Order: sequence, then structure tokens, then C-alpha cells
Amino acid sequence: MEVLRSKNALCAYIERNREMGKKIGFAPTMGALHEGHLSLYEAARKENDLVISSIFVNPTQFNNSADLQKYPRTVEADIKLLESTGNIDAVYIPKEQDIYPNGLKSEKYDFDGLENEMEGKFRPGHFDGVGTVVEELFRQVQPDNAYFGEKDYQQLAIIKKMVEKKNLPVKIHGVPTLREDSGLARSSRNERLTPEQRKTAKIIHETLTQVNDWFRVVSIPEIKDRVNKIFEKTSGIVLEYFIIADEETLKETDFFYKDRNYRAFIAAFAGEVRLIDNKHLD
Ligand code: PAF
Repeated sequence: MEVLRSKNALCAYIERNREMGKKIGFAPTMGALHEGHLSLYEAARKENDLVISSIFVNPTQFNNSADLQKYPRTVEADIKLLESTGNIDAVYIPKEQDIYPNGLKSEKYDFDGLENEMEGKFRPGHFDGVGTVVEELFRQVQPDNAYFGEKDYQQLAIIKKMVEKKNLPVKIHGVPTLREDSGLARSSRNERLTPEQRKTAKIIHETLTQVNDWFRVVSIPEIKDRVNKIFEKTSGIVLEYFIIADEETLKETDFFYKDRNYRAFIAAFAGEVRLIDNKHLD
């Protein structure tokens, strides 16, 4: 596995492999790698000649500086893990300057309103930061296919929208969320949970599963009421939002239409750690 620690090293690597006609699969990350990331690489391995990952904690997508500071940084352990999988051909670890040569600023995007829902409401500017770094990484890595986890479903939808609107030559793939035994979605943030908080946090996935049982049987206002009550009764976790949204527009709905697909979304705080998860309703 090659470890590419600058844009120049990456460009030379990409040029070499493009000349040989290699098909490139790419999974960008912010490091603190866990099994959820490994499932992205497995998906990439099946469809590409080369699998490249990147590790870059992107400052412009954090609207809260404490969150940015506390984001786990474990690059050397990450490299060892990547090496041990045997699934990765190269990892790109850019410097800030490689991504933001003109200073830490994000582009303003119009994602047709997808950016105004959920995470967009609670984390202003977040998706402009995500769009900026992902677009720049796509331009540098030039992947044929790119892989993102469904845990960040809104991010996945927004990246698909960006690729469509900017006509970028890359196909975006969503990879199903990997879970701990308790059902808690795997996330780099889980590292910051105490054992007690980790136990409590399983309520997020349990609730989403419950909601799926109530789907189209119980009215949405009643479902919301029940979800609020579950969180009020559970100590150690605070619900930030629960919504049921149209899977395509991500607009919250108060009524189920027959021919539309829906997904339930939760964001909650376990102590200071913000966790998100979602579930397709079937
Ligand atoms: O999902 C993430 O880890 C990040 O948002 C991403 C896509 C790597 C952009 O920084």
C-alpha cells in the first residue's frame, strides 16, 4: 500500500495508473477508521482495479470548533489498519494546503434544498464544507466510483446531487450502515462514548426499528409523540431531532403518500457526543 502524503505524490500516482487504464474506486474519510470504513473498501474492491482512500479531518465542515478539536486523530493506527486489510492500494493524506491553497473557505452550494433539512438546519455551513472537500478530492483523485456510508444518508444524497449538477465523471455508491452488536451504528465518534453511554446509545437504532413497525399503521404525529416519550424516559441521551422524510427530497412529511419512499432520521446527544442514524421504512 502506498502512503501519499502530498498532492504532488498523489498526482504522480494517479497519472501513472490512469495511463495503464486502471479503474479507480475511492472512499474519502476523516480517519479514526473502523469496520464501517472497511465495508466501503470491500465494496470498492469488487468493482475497481485500484482502491484509494483518503484521511483528512476537514475543518470547514465543523460548525463547532470544540467538535473539530475533539475529533479523534489516529493516522498512524489508521495506516496500519488499512495495510492489514490488504484491500487498499493507496491512502492519500493531504495537508491543509493541498486542499485549501487559498485558505480555509468553503464554496457555496445549491443542492436543490437538500442542504436545508436536518443536519443542514442544525449544523449551518456543514454541507458547503463537505461539498468543497469532496469535490476537490474528486478532482485530485479522479475516481470512476466513490463510496459513502448510508449512516450519513443526507451527505450521500448531497454528494449525488453535486455530482449530477457539476457533471463530475464519477459514480456514487451508498454502502449499508455497519452496526455494533447492540445495533448502534458504527462511527468514529463512538470512540468518545463511555461504556455506559455506548449502552444507552443503542436506543437510537431500537427506536428507528420500532418506528418501522408503526409505519403506515400509526399516524406520524402519534409516532413523533411516542419517540419523544421514549427519549424523555431514557436518561443519558437527549434527542435533537426525529423526523420522517421523503427519501428523495429529504423533506419532512406529516402524511404517508402511497407511491413515495420514506426514511426515519434521528440525531441525539449522548453527553457531548452527537450521534446520527437513519432507517428506510418498509
Ligand atoms: O463522512 C465523512 O467522513 C466526511 O464527511 C467526508 C465525506 C470524508 C468529507 O470530509
